[in-house]
Amino acid sequence: MKKRHLLGLFLCASSVFAATAATPDAEIESKINALLAKMTLEEKIGQLNQQTGTGYSDDMVGSIRKGAVGSILNEVDPVIVNKLQHEAVENSRLGIPLIFARDVVHGFKTIFPIPLGQAASWNPALVEQGARIAAVEAASTGVRWTFSPMVDVSRDGRWGRIAESFGEDPYLASVLGVSMVKGYQTDDLSQPGTMAACTKHFAGYGASESGKDYNTTWIPEVLLRDMYLPPFEAAARAGSATFMCSFNDINGVPSSGNPHLNIDILRNEWGFDGVLVSDWASIMQMIPQGVCVDLKDAADRAANSGVDVDMESYAYTRHLKELVEEGKVEESTIDNLVRNVLRLKFRLGLFDNPYVDMATANNFYAPESLEAAKKMVEESTVMLKNNDILPLKNVKKIALVGPMADDKHNQAGTWCFDLEKEHCVTPLEALTEKYGKDAIIYAPGLKYSRDIDESGIADAVAAAREADVVVMVGGEEAVLSGEAHCRADISLPGAQTKMLEALKATGKPVVLIIMTGRPMTIVHETSLADAVLYMFHGGTMAGPAVAEMLAGEVSPSGKLPVSMPKMVGQLPLYYNHVNTGRPASGMVLIDEIPLEAPQTSTGCTSFYLDAGDGPAFPFGYGLSYSTFSYGDVKLSSASMARDGSIEVSCTVTNTGNMAAAETVQLYTRDLVASLSRPVKELKGFEKVYLQPGESRMVTFTLQASSLAFWSTPTTKVVEPGDFNLWVAGDSASGTPVKFSVTE
Ligand code: BGC
Repeated sequence: MKKRHLLGLFLCASSVFAATAATPDAEIESKINALLAKMTLEEKIGQLNQQTGTGYSDDMVGSIRKGAVGSILNEVDPVIVNKLQHEAVENSRLGIPLIFARDVVHGFKTIFPIPLGQAASWNPALVEQGARIAAVEAASTGVRWTFSPMVDVSRDGRWGRIAESFGEDPYLASVLGVSMVKGYQTDDLSQPGTMAACTKHFAGYGASESGKDYNTTWIPEVLLRDMYLPPFEAAARAGSATFMCSFNDINGVPSSGNPHLNIDILRNEWGFDGVLVSDWASIMQMIPQGVCVDLKDAADRAANSGVDVDMESYAYTRHLKELVEEGKVEESTIDNLVRNVLRLKFRLGLFDNPYVDMATANNFYAPESLEAAKKMVEESTVMLKNNDILPLKNVKKIALVGPMADDKHNQAGTWCFDLEKEHCVTPLEALTEKYGKDAIIYAPGLKYSRDIDESGIADAVAAAREADVVVMVGGEEAVLSGEAHCRADISLPGAQTKMLEALKATGKPVVLIIMTGRPMTIVHETSLADAVLYMFHGGTMAGPAVAEMLAGEVSPSGKLPVSMPKMVGQLPLYYNHVNTGRPASGMVLIDEIPLEAPQTSTGCTSFYLDAGDGPAFPFGYGLSYSTFSYGDVKLSSASMARDGSIEVSCTVTNTGNMAAAETVQLYTRDLVASLSRPVKELKGFEKVYLQPGESRMVTFTLQASSLAFWSTPTTKVVEPGDFNLWVAGDSASGTPVKFSVTE
């Protein structure tokens, strides 16, 4: 039994990712100081200014020559990039190069699945490879700074930006965020073909109240540190070159004006010495947020809160000089902001190699990149249901229906500024190639996901009648998720459900494929379909991946990175919640309540009368064409010291008849602690690839330090006592095994 009040072991940093934040390089630091000594105040402020590209325009050239621009976003033509860079390097007084930035979020030209989809792969190496490919492609146009990864822990499917996230779990987001950072940056950011990562949005943005974008958040500091900050800390320690402020306020304090986050935590606790950029006009937005009177006040607050670069508020260019002259912002404060920007430019090697090499420019769509993109779709597709209809067997005719079966634009997903949709291969194209033109009867039924015109459904039904199997590809158009694209209803839009009902009525087996940017409420739709493949927006290679999975050449192996709600009213919904004093039991649901039943007759526990308790599908869930069995969980010891570790092993066997991958997950629960702890927390995972009949022992090293939590805003502690652990294929399975942490 645990002692409730203890001083505990104080830990400064999460040890799983404890590593170096970038180490200062003495040579670079002395070059920075030498340069800084030559700079006028105006030139310093120029380095802090980031503005949108306007091509090789007179205005832009004039500003660059004056040294009034430090970085440019959204300029991706290497010829223009080189011309602008030439102005900075050759025609400005100090010759400081520019950085070109872009939101390369899930691929540049070769589009990978959206980040939420990539999270469903639970495959850090593949995520890293995807980021590497994106960096090579984007850097070949001159983009050396991407605004990715987004590691906002996201617990609410209404929030459109959940699509850009790695889902609801801080550990999964930490591992995959670090993978992306490494993929973009490699070990040597100065090499061509790399981009500086920008870990965003710092912080708490995923908790936007009621899933509405930009909304306020109220997050107690212990929760902030336990749930929302770990992926940021992991990225900082992995050397993420830059960070971005979030739009939201936390407890009334907007992030662009939050010195506690930006200085105390990011700089002082985590040792971050890269660039902190504001979000788009987020400095200016502190005016409508009601904490600054005007743009000058906002510039003052942001600069004194450690925001290095002003993206698109023009607060710094307009007001910093005056603020320094008035003594409201110290010049030494400006110097420190500028140092961070110059350090990034040195680290990127821009002083030595400022230009795009036109001989290798525009390097896109390598065959191995397309192959990796396809693999990522297969590894991130979550099979939610399969009544033995998949993989398809002996089918001669497939009715291919649904609004997303041949929709190049929408299968790519949100944040695809550089999409060339002619390179996207759709399910219609890939299935036609695989099965032959005569085998596919294509009748979309609906023109787009929101379509409410039911007149095409009859054609889809007629196609179904002629076929052996129906494959309906539906979901949400790309524009229904992403920034500022939140929904209060997360069901399938338009007449898709009606169409599915009509298809089901034909008696033909129906495979439902959902391409989407968020977890959706699809309980009814799942009951109608014989199989459900939940795909997220898959990008360039979604079609070939669908064809290979349907044909059984490969099994889908995605696992949910978010809990799927039964009803939208359950949101926010997440597996790692704390228990109430009355966990759900003896539920009497709404249709079972007798007339005039007394108030207490439904059982006084925590559940909804209409949704019961828990998700439709839990975090970590996903089926395979094969089956897996888990052996007994073995511990190297049933106890460990507070600075110790134990080995946790479990043998996993492929008990089916197809080679397939399984993601083995390790969860723990701290049974009694000084603060109520989550009922389960992910502490490790490993994706294993097994031949039929093959067994593999999976071993995790569980460090006691990974059981630490913030018991106060300044105390991170491992409390001795009893814990449970599970090794299982999802967050709702497995048999608990006890272990303890001793004094
Ligand atoms: C988004 C950021 C993005 C930035 C630059 C903002 O609106 O919140 O995520 O990186 O724009 O495009």
